[in-house]
Amino acid sequence: MIPVILSGGSGTRLWPLSRAKKPKQFLSLVNEKSMLQNTLLRLKGIEHLAPPIVVCNEDHRFMVAEQLRELAINDACIMLEPVGRNTAPAIAIAAIQALQTHQDPVLLVLAADHVIQDIPAFQQAVAEADIAAEAGKLVTFGVVPVTAHTGYGYIRRSKQSVASMANTFQVTEFKEKPDKSTAEHYLTSGDYCWNSGMFMFKASTLLAELERFAPEVVHACRMAVTAAAQDLDFVRVDKDAFSASPADSLDYAVLEKSDNTVMVPLNAGWSDVGSYDALWDVMAKDAQGNACRGDVMLESTRNSYINAEEKLVAVIGLDNVIVVETKDAVLVADKNDIQQVKSIVQRLQSYG
Ligand code: GDD
Ligand code: MG
Repeated sequence: MIPVILSGGSGTRLWPLSRAKKPKQFLSLVNEKSMLQNTLLRLKGIEHLAPPIVVCNEDHRFMVAEQLRELAINDACIMLEPVGRNTAPAIAIAAIQALQTHQDPVLLVLAADHVIQDIPAFQQAVAEADIAAEAGKLVTFGVVPVTAHTGYGYIRRSKQSVASMANTFQVTEFKEKPDKSTAEHYLTSGDYCWNSGMFMFKASTLLAELERFAPEVVHACRMAVTAAAQDLDFVRVDKDAFSASPADSLDYAVLEKSDNTVMVPLNAGWSDVGSYDALWDVMAKDAQGNACRGDVMLESTRNSYINAEEKLVAVIGLDNVIVVETKDAVLVADKNDIQQVKSIVQRLQSYG
């Protein structure tokens, strides 16, 4: 089994901590290790694990190499994308690369920026998924939904588990990022799970499905890997070939269309930490419900997330707030309105 770590996202909803130069996956948000490092550490103990493939943007190559070195991982393959083309091409180049050195390995595709609190439960789900992946299935990991979040994929699955596969269900519908009313309908029906964004399949299964539903992606990615340059520890895929791939996520490109998908339930304290309120949710808190990092002093403050990067930050008499202080920007927000950080980032991007 080869872990494939997708480490190319931009994580704008955690501005100002997460920036283009150092996005969310490279930050230490819940403990002293970065999200990428925690992703690799939670694999410890899984049997028959080959060295990981980390797929990232070339701008982040030294950060990735340094964070792997800190974990004493010296045998990873770091694949560099010259441009972001979303997850379908990122996974495709990893699958093509993996087939050069292994006999049709199972790939465990993981986002580099998620939190999983119950590692034994995660590893148990991976063991169940491995059986289905070996049998030629695309495996998703489903999480019981708690809100009608429109940023997730939703999975409807069979009531009975697939014959000879414990705890593994046929996917009967996969809908990526539904609109609000559809998501609300899914939630109240009780028939749907969130797609966690982690996947397992054999490299050949993935490429066959992509060949069927997104042949231009596979074509461009084959050329990009064939013409790749080995540069120090990095595999630098060919820029022209890779840039010619359509940009699409695996969810839209394959999972919405394929009938070869199964789901293994994941009940492991999963969060994609997509926003500060989600981050606050998964962090350790003081008796007043405050999650703090850095040099922070509080008086009469409750249920808040306070992160001080550079200065001492003092907060008095506030409830339910987000305060993030960094070298060049300070965010102060009502926790209930934190989704609007997106608008601030859009305005900043429009200034160039
Ligand atoms: N290498 C690479 N290149 N990685 C990428 C790229 C890329 O172009 N684009 C995204 N990633 C990485 C991100 O860093 C993240 O770890 C993972 O791939 C998923 O990408 P997101 O952009 O965060 O996807 P999403 O959150 O909109 O949706 C996915 O995750 C949800 C759960 O968090 C989907 O799989 C949804 O169905 C799912 O519910
Ligand atoms: Mg995400």
